[in-house]
Amino acid sequence: MAEADGDVTLDALRTALRSANSVFVLTGSGISAESGLPTFRGVGGLWRTHRVEELASPLGFARDPELVWTWYNERKAAHVRAQPNAGHYALARLEEAIGDFTLATQNVDSLHLRAGSKRVLELHGNLREARCTGCDARRRFDADGLPLDQIEHFCGGRFRPDIVWFGEPLPPAVWREAEAAAARADVILVAGTSAIVYPAAALATHYNERAFVAEVNPEPTAISGRVDCVLRSTAAELLPQLLGDLELPRPT
Ligand code: APR
Repeated sequence: MAEADGDVTLDALRTALRSANSVFVLTGSGISAESGLPTFRGVGGLWRTHRVEELASPLGFARDPELVWTWYNERKAAHVRAQPNAGHYALARLEEAIGDFTLATQNVDSLHLRAGSKRVLELHGNLREARCTGCDARRRFDADGLPLDQIEHFCGGRFRPDIVWFGEPLPPAVWREAEAAAARADVILVAGTSAIVYPAAALATHYNERAFVAEVNPEPTAISGRVDCVLRSTAAELLPQLLGDLELPRPT
């Protein structure tokens, strides 16, 4: 769809939200950009300065688990230092007002949870736990990360980040819930993702013909031509503005 005037499209989204019983939100690393965390493909993005196959793949982990943990420990420390921004808080506020609300995020930074969002589906896992490759034992780690001398597990396996790496399936139960939520939504809001990594990107446009689909992103994306409403703005600026004039009812 052509990019109409910003106010017209924002009003169209507000109108759709006011009458929505079910809302599905898909976020990506862009919503955490204003919390100071790098995206993956933008300027200075993680995949612009690091080798994906070395750091975010089962083979890369098998080859050099210490390198992989060093990188994830650095990202974990950055996540803990970061604070949720106005975009995260706006989505937590939107959830309070919508009876059937689901937020599926590709992010592993826990910032939606720290902002108060409850109905969060972490499609690509999280950086709060490590999982043993041998026996599936789990252990939490904090800003100090997983000590490199504790990667090996007594069962013979290794603790790995509980992240979905390239070439791995998403957690089946999480995917089923996200797909069902996208399919029943009256409004689908896509914020901060380039929408090029599947299957997550499919949730925006592949499972629902009737939903009003809006994109919040300062740049064009792979789905800009397929949504009903394009809001060329940052999440931290647009989402509070969207809710500000929405007069959302507080849940009783
Ligand atoms: N507000 C909204 N969107 C923003 C902002 C912002 N302040 N800053 C950047 N963006 C947008 C960019 O324009 C881009 O479209 O966020 C998007 C980030 O895209 P990517 O870097 O590709 O990140 P993402 O879409 O989350 O990647 C998806 O790819 O590498 C895998 O597992 C990784 O979950 C990740 C997945």
